Amino acid sequence: MALELFEYAAQELESRRLSPTHDVLSALLAPTVDGDTLDDLALKNFFTLMVAAGNDTTRYTMTGGLLALIERPELFARIPTMSLEERKSLVEEMLRWTTVTMHFRRTLTKDVELRGKTLKAGDKVVLWFASADFDETHFDQPDEFRADRTPNDHVAFGLHSPHLCLGAHLARLELRVLFEELARRWEKVELMAPPERLRSNFISGMKTLPLRVTWR
Ligand code: HEM
Repeated sequence: MALELFEYAAQELESRRLSPTHDVLSALLAPTVDGDTLDDLALKNFFTLMVAAGNDTTRYTMTGGLLALIERPELFARIPTMSLEERKSLVEEMLRWTTVTMHFRRTLTKDVELRGKTLKAGDKVVLWFASADFDETHFDQPDEFRADRTPNDHVAFGLHSPHLCLGAHLARLELRVLFEELARRWEKVELMAPPERLRSNFISGMKTLPLRVTWR
């Protein structure tokens, strides 16, 4: 499947080369102000990264967020009358609560002292976002789902580094619009069986979430 995706990327890139549009692929093909361009492998890798990075993550945050609402029907019922700020805040708590990308591995570029331990340049370290988002020294009652948590400086989109998630704004918007629309159309949503979780130590998600929905 990865090879097929590479093949698809190659075709799409070729068609943009011939007739550029206003989309992301055309922007990637265009030279920067310094005249630099990405080579073919980097372009295909970037395409694959965009497809993968924006897919499971948003989808599993949606299912995790929905489960949190099913367990809190009064919160779900309140969404249509919430202010924009309240709905945005609800989405932030869903992001913290689900922290779908559980960790990332990074390589140290310089020596660092951390809680009495010396980490050396070149060491491989794993940043556990899922742990940080439930850190009781940072969040008040992290095991409580609080739709109005303030501040909510979670790291579901990564640490505030140059690699911070490129799709964070899109994902936030998708999540907010989805739950606004569901709450508008669904009178009630119930769980029909326990969800089946994905077996992974990288992505936290659900494979099944059987529901019964009562439409308005
Ligand atoms: C709820 C949804 C999402 C979550 C939880 C999420 C999470 C993350 C995390 C944890 C990182 C690594 C950040 C770091 O290393 O500091 C990342 C990077 C990235 N994400 Fe997302 N992401 C989401 C949605 C998206 C979407 C919708 C897109 C694109 C359409 C996207 C594209 C990317 C890309 C391209 C990177 C790599 C950035 C870089 O290395 O410079 N993500 N994301």
